[in-house]
Amino acid sequence: MNRSLPVRLLVSAALVLNPTAAFTQSAAGPHPLVSYELELAQYATAPSEDAVARLQKRIDAGEVTLAFEPTHGFLNALLKELGLSPSSQLLVFSKTSLQRYHITSKSPRALFFNERVYMAWIPGAPMLEFLAEDPQLGAVLYTLEQTNVAQPRFVRDNRCLECHVGPRTLGIPGRLVRSMRTTKDGDVDLLSGAAIVSHSTPLKDRWGGWYVTGAYGALEHQGNHFSLLTPTPQPASTTPSTPSNPSAGDLRDFLDISRYPTPTSDVTALLVLEHQTHLANLLTRLGYEARASLRQWGHINSLTNVLHQTLNDLLFVGEIPLAGAIRGESKFVEGFQGQGPRDSQGRSLREFDLQTRLFKYPCSYMIHSDAFAGLPRAVKLRLYRRLYAVLTGEDSSGDFQSIPAEKRRAVLEILADTQKDLPAYWKL
Ligand code: HEC
Repeated sequence: MNRSLPVRLLVSAALVLNPTAAFTQSAAGPHPLVSYELELAQYATAPSEDAVARLQKRIDAGEVTLAFEPTHGFLNALLKELGLSPSSQLLVFSKTSLQRYHITSKSPRALFFNERVYMAWIPGAPMLEFLAEDPQLGAVLYTLEQTNVAQPRFVRDNRCLECHVGPRTLGIPGRLVRSMRTTKDGDVDLLSGAAIVSHSTPLKDRWGGWYVTGAYGALEHQGNHFSLLTPTPQPASTTPSTPSNPSAGDLRDFLDISRYPTPTSDVTALLVLEHQTHLANLLTRLGYEARASLRQWGHINSLTNVLHQTLNDLLFVGEIPLAGAIRGESKFVEGFQGQGPRDSQGRSLREFDLQTRLFKYPCSYMIHSDAFAGLPRAVKLRLYRRLYAVLTGEDSSGDFQSIPAEKRRAVLEILADTQKDLPAYWKL
């Protein structure tokens, strides 16, 4: 495997993001911006602890065999072994993949996800694609050949880093969600739409290149719509109006949906993906910077910016309110909420609101994730201290003013019951 390419890509991404990264001392004082170049350079060679790596070990040990089916290959076996619910299926028809030639609006890429792993399948394409979460490395990308062999091999595929590390992923190996004008053939207008989608992206700019099913009223958005790529991109007036963005309750109008594990590309799953991927990128970036800072300075005092952004994202500061009630129509909502953990009153951070906001409580379930757990202890203590200050009302500064007192109280109590490594002061 050619190791020099990914290292070069990773290091140049770090430099793009943090142009002072090459300096160890700055005029600004003793704590210059952190250079996490060395941490990134280790990405290419470090062994990964993730769901795909764990499955590979079980396959190698003969504990698991993956059934291979004629049209779907290993898809169904892997949904089961990786604990991915078919109801998390999302269909994206923009050619945003190494296997772009296989993607069109008639043959969209299906994504399945949870907090540990994302899998992508395109009908007829030679490979399955995976993004697995390592608590330290961040996104680890794999491919698997769709050929009927007894011992399938997942391959860490560094070609993917061309897109999965860069400014759009906050300079670390990360996750991507985009929204672009996309034609029926899946060609995208790279200059259009949202470079990166998160829970802070206006709804009218989201879902370009995606199919979206479920009920979401008269919400204006870019999904379920095929653009024409004109030589001179048209201004916003070509933004499709609601009637051309049908609430695609029935994807049969667009493609042969019977080939896919479920007939949906559920709106609630898409909203969760957008929130989760961005926060996961922040958590990975925070981890890289924190480990570099601890290595260089022995403390994390200079990490103000990324800590602040992560705290805000955890608490849904800047989340775009929903334009009206939203209803998923797949089993996704039930399955997602059902996972808990729940507090002594039966409450969980995974409960949906779907009236004015995505979740009922303004603190992300990602606080229970391996990515959060894998942060250096010093970072978690800092985050917990700040969270505690916000949730007890001690800190009601600008960003947090809009969080109602009873919601703060509820989150404080839910975390006390469900978050394992809270400092002792939390429970007093
Ligand atoms: C040309 C750029 C590009 C390349 C190369 C690329 N991806 Fe992606 N990938 C994307 C974009 C963009 C998305 C989000 C879907 C969208 O908005 O169209 C994505 C999404 C994904 C997802 C879903 C999780 C997420 O981040 O949202 C997986 C899994 C994935 N890619 C795997 C891979 C693998 C494996 C490779 C290498 C074999 C790869 N990708 C190469 C652009 C790329």
